[in-house]
Amino acid sequence: MINPVYAAAFDRYDNGMAYRRCGRSGIMLPAVSLGLWQNFGDTAPLSRSREMLLHAFDKGICHFDLANNYGPSYGSAEATFGRIFKSDLHPYRDEMFISTKAGYDMWPGPYGNFGSRKYLMSSLDQSLKRMGLDYVDIFYSHRFDPDTPLQETMQALIDIVRSGKALYAGISNYPHQAAEYAYRYLADHDVPCLLHQVKYNMLHRVPETDNLLSQAKEAGSGLIAFSPLAQGLLTDRYLNGIPSDSRAARDFTLKKDSLTPEFIERLSRLNAMAAERGQTLAQMALAWNLKDDNVTSVIIGASSTAQIDDNLQAIRNTCFSDEELKLINEITGA
Ligand SMILES: NC(=O)c1ccc[n+]([C@@H]2O[C@H](COP(=O)([O-])OP(=O)(O)OC[C@H]3O[C@@H](n4cnc5c(N)ncnc54)[C@H](OP(=O)(O)O)[C@@H]3O)[C@@H](O)[C@H]2O)c1
Repeated sequence: MINPVYAAAFDRYDNGMAYRRCGRSGIMLPAVSLGLWQNFGDTAPLSRSREMLLHAFDKGICHFDLANNYGPSYGSAEATFGRIFKSDLHPYRDEMFISTKAGYDMWPGPYGNFGSRKYLMSSLDQSLKRMGLDYVDIFYSHRFDPDTPLQETMQALIDIVRSGKALYAGISNYPHQAAEYAYRYLADHDVPCLLHQVKYNMLHRVPETDNLLSQAKEAGSGLIAFSPLAQGLLTDRYLNGIPSDSRAARDFTLKKDSLTPEFIERLSRLNAMAAERGQTLAQMALAWNLKDDNVTSVIIGASSTAQIDDNLQAIRNTCFSDEELKLINEITGA
């Protein structure tokens, strides 16, 4: 059979997705965004990656989050994205908000890691080539580098925006004090920080304890949460063992030994609570993030379109009673 040409669903902005304003900016992002950290590299089937990306776009997910070293192998998630962009999504470029980042290890030697101007500039050039794009919508410093003057990293972001290779600048994984400097420096140079991307979920509360949420709000920046499902722990995936096709089975970024009987017991209690709310555990976990207006979007990962569909239902109920929030804190030990 002749392969059909992809045409985006006509109702893609009309089937339940919510769009939230990103700090004090002109940008709105979908409440649920899709990240390509895992499951989109050159070890994953291209057909499945394509199916997930197009399905997400059809459901109103117009923000795709990448980084130079997403894969495996490093760079291959951007290359996969580039192939699918070229074959299917390029007519929709102006409807898409595409990010990439540099800050973690990417190539050997002193210029392929951390926060130097040299690394950020050359990495973005490579990312644009792999993705077949003229520009990204946001370019992030992927992590705070304690050994590079923050001024150098921030000035590189500003110059990148001025060059037109990125429309906005962002920071990721910055501790409070470094974020404070970044917000001020960027704003003083008329390139306000659009987003701080941080790990935030029911089990990981650093954005609360380090006051990153209120800090972003005061700075007029959005805050976007990555790993909102704690890499799959906050779902029903591991309640009855470790499935062979799961992330924990790979035992790399998600360790098998985190799944102790005591921990599974806590997940089971959260799962029961979600059921009482009429949600899956994944939906409740995402709703918990989205209950806070200061969270612009949650960046989910997925290994199937069914997971994406499950997660999208989270948007339907993001309200929690005080009792529910107390119980979640008690179960998670927060
Ligand atoms: N800035 C940073 O430093 C940083 C770091 C990490 C991530 N990120 C970004 O955040 C994105 C998301 O991170 P993440 O992949 O850790 O997010 P996550 O949403 O916490 O975990 C995603 C994994 O959870 C499982 N899952 C998802 N939905 C499910 C459902 N409904 N039911 C059962 N299982 C479900 C899948 O695991 P299986 O694959 O096992 O099916 C999926 O791969 C990344 O792609 C990246 O864009 C940024």
